[in-house]
Amino acid sequence: MKVVVALPTRSATIRLARRLAALLAPGDLVLLEGPLGAGKTYLARALLRALGVGRDTRVTSPTFALVHAYAARLDVRHADLYRVASGHEVDELGLLAARDAGAALLVEWGARFARELGGDALTATLSLEPRAVALGASGDRSSLVLAGLSS
Ligand SMILES: Nc1ncnc2c1ncn2[C@@H]1O[C@H](COP(=O)(O)OP(=O)(O)O)[C@@H](O)[C@H]1O
Ligand SMILES: [Mg+2]
Repeated sequence: MKVVVALPTRSATIRLARRLAALLAPGDLVLLEGPLGAGKTYLARALLRALGVGRDTRVTSPTFALVHAYAARLDVRHADLYRVASGHEVDELGLLAARDAGAALLVEWGARFARELGGDALTATLSLEPRAVALGASGDRSSLVLAGLSS
């Protein structure tokens, strides 16, 4: 199943994030794909806000730290693997260990490391012209989340 949602405005992204956040559970993996500027970080931030990360906590792009951790309704790791070259480096970031311990993972540029991240991913591929997101799933759990989104 593929679900495509138009995201012409930031508000549209926030609405989608609220619906998706309500479906997320411990151990879920969300991969954020698409070109620079497509809105991956913006969607991750909207998801974190919808999960309860308050305005007093800044949500910035993890471009340099690679992984930021948040405690909200779920434990969440927000990662950006743009600069990561090998699966071994991904292993060292401890994302799979965090996932196994119950964290949800929001990973920009993570699709090429889906295996190292434990698979069963909900992949959100953002596009710029026009702004939209195509959502796909690669396992039982992510398919359940996707079905929830499309219903
Ligand atoms: N749905 C949207 N409509 C309009 N602008 C958006 C939308 N989503 C994100 N943006 C804006 O696009 C810019 C780039 O977003 P960002 O999330 O940093 O992209 P990425 O992480 O994919 O490189 C930001 O200024 C952000 O506010
Ligand atoms: Mg980004």
